[in-house]
Amino acid sequence: MDEPQLLNRKAPPEEESLDRSLRPQSLDEFIGQQKLKDNLRVFIEAARRREEPLDHCLFYSPPGLGKTTLATILAREMGVNLRATAGPILERAGDLAAILTDLNPGDVFFIDEIHRLNHVVEESLYPVMEDFTFYISTGKGPGASAVKLAIPRFTLVGATTRAGLLTSPLRDRFGIVGNIGFYEIPELDRIVRRSAGILDIEILPEGSLEIARRSRGTPRIANRLLRRVRDFAQVRADGIITEDVARDSLEALEVDAEGLDAMDRRLLSTLIDKFAGGPVGIDSLAVAVSEEIDTLVDVYEPFLIQAGFLTRTSRGRVASPKAFKHLGLKHPVRRDELFT
Ligand SMILES: Nc1ncnc2c1ncn2[C@@H]1O[C@H](COP(=O)(O)OP(=O)(O)O)[C@@H](O)[C@H]1O
Ligand SMILES: [Mg+2]
Repeated sequence: MDEPQLLNRKAPPEEESLDRSLRPQSLDEFIGQQKLKDNLRVFIEAARRREEPLDHCLFYSPPGLGKTTLATILAREMGVNLRATAGPILERAGDLAAILTDLNPGDVFFIDEIHRLNHVVEESLYPVMEDFTFYISTGKGPGASAVKLAIPRFTLVGATTRAGLLTSPLRDRFGIVGNIGFYEIPELDRIVRRSAGILDIEILPEGSLEIARRSRGTPRIANRLLRRVRDFAQVRADGIITEDVARDSLEALEVDAEGLDAMDRRLLSTLIDKFAGGPVGIDSLAVAVSEEIDTLVDVYEPFLIQAGFLTRTSRGRVASPKAFKHLGLKHPVRRDELFT
């Protein structure tokens, strides 16, 4: 079954408002990521005592793990406004200037997909991050000069799915850098139960655990699966999400016991069937599954690697024995392995 909504790790527009209603509003409500939260609490408290804005923060993780949520929480905890934009939207330095001059002191300015800023905009951001000065260049050639514009002190929060694509001058200008990792099953279980409470969904503990297990370590997917399972519960059961209801509906949605969906399995089976399990370059793999390289790298690979189905080697991607086993295939013993 083709279920683009389920396969899509990024939130489509119509999901945004639901995402918002389920979005934790404070660090206390933000489940998991204990170490990151503890650190952020200290930085927030220290900034408050000094009556200064929080240092610039960079959050990186695969999609759906809580970067945007953390940005909104920081603004709320600091008691300031949030201005949000995204890397590809800021086409010219002027677009950036328009937002910056409109900020109030202390505000949080959130740039999503910050690795996609074009280099002119990115370079105009450096002096802003450093000493809150924006340089407007006037004229061209030998007669060109720059006018300085003072910007109120603010906090830049950047989010990216690919920390590796950030230039080092940009990365180095963030005082706080936080990696958000995949969530553990008990944490996802708490997220599912919390969301069920907000959406007024009846769910048994075993039902919530079953959804948590199949959520690919990702809160956004946990919430999405919860809503789909609720549909099944209402139509095929008496509205209550039990373990059986959760399992049967997720099977119907082709989300398997490991949380892999149709695209994950297609990726692994292509790697095994067409490329003998690898190693194969990401570009060939992308062509074989007709998907963009970026989507494979940002969206699909991280969990497959984390869960041990896939490894990345210098010669390309390799399916692990676990991937063979999961797809019911026999792992071949390679010649080179016989002699090691
Ligand atoms: N730590 C968390 N605790 C509870 N819910 C979370 C947490 N992180 C994310 N979520 C839920 O997952 C959804 C997606 O998170 P989001 O911040 O939009 O992810 P990202 O910006 O990293 O793609 C949010 O709307 C929120 O409901
Ligand atoms: Mg986001």
